[in-house]
Amino acid sequence: MNIHAPRAATSGRPHLLMCPPRHFAVTYSINPWMDPQSWADRGGNLHGEAQRQWAGLRDALAAAGALLETIEPAPDLPDLVFTANAAVVLDRKVVLSRFRYPERQKEEAIFAAVFAALRDCGVIDDVCRLPAGVILEGAGDCIWDARRRLFWLGCGFRSDASAASFLTQQLGRPVLALPLAQSRFYHLDTAFCVLPCGSLMYYPMAFTAAAQAAIDAHVAPEHRIALDRADAERFAANAVCVHNTIVLSSCSKSLRSALHERGYTVVQTPLQAFLRSGGSACCLTLRLDHRSEVLSARSRRRQAAAASSG
Ligand code: ARG
Repeated sequence: MNIHAPRAATSGRPHLLMCPPRHFAVTYSINPWMDPQSWADRGGNLHGEAQRQWAGLRDALAAAGALLETIEPAPDLPDLVFTANAAVVLDRKVVLSRFRYPERQKEEAIFAAVFAALRDCGVIDDVCRLPAGVILEGAGDCIWDARRRLFWLGCGFRSDASAASFLTQQLGRPVLALPLAQSRFYHLDTAFCVLPCGSLMYYPMAFTAAAQAAIDAHVAPEHRIALDRADAERFAANAVCVHNTIVLSSCSKSLRSALHERGYTVVQTPLQAFLRSGGSACCLTLRLDHRSEVLSARSRRRQAAAASSG
């Protein structure tokens, strides 16, 4: 693993963990997008496509200003590329994931070792485990909302709503559970993305009536960008925000205009090979630098100066 410095954490640049897709494939099915037979039928083509598409995402994120850490891929763990599922991170504190399906449970030990290394390098401070029996698939289901200073927790398919109280106890912020309604949108980040300005890009049909009511109660109508089915199914909500750039696989013209109007630049970088596994841009990254306190530009500069002189 090549770790970019403790000082990354104070540079004001989004700091992301990724895993190259050397061993990526669809060899089992744990969500409705995954069809191992159709992957096998396309032979090596899709593997090559995945390598190119992942490199395109990495380059787009770096060009937008993100600082990237990459971990070593592992044979027989094709979904290790989806680092969003590794953990929930806030204020340099990490809650390690526990996966629902045996196919992904072997990733837990690998991610635990990665975070131990990040702690040794000074990127994070603490790592903790979930209580026995509680399932939580990391930031894929638990999304930090910096404006509202709370987490949204998708539950019903993968993560348990009962993780909420532990997360609040460990990370000190409220956690609002959002029960998911459709198996095609089995992780929260497949249908829900909070933009830095506090606007929410989401697919309402992916949520139960109770979840939609919770969203309506917390997000003002002018801050809700509802996706249509076509954008939802190309995983336009599975986007990564780096400063004012939104990186995603693809989206409609109308969504692009709605995002432009709010001051964002949209960068489309194709990730269809990963959609065959039920993932896209956001799933392939994990933010390491989320903070519960909003830092002023001045204190960020001060911290950066202190880090580079130390
Ligand atoms: N095949 C993976 C799974 O089913 C995809 C995970 C996508 N990750 C995400 N954060 N939505 O677990």
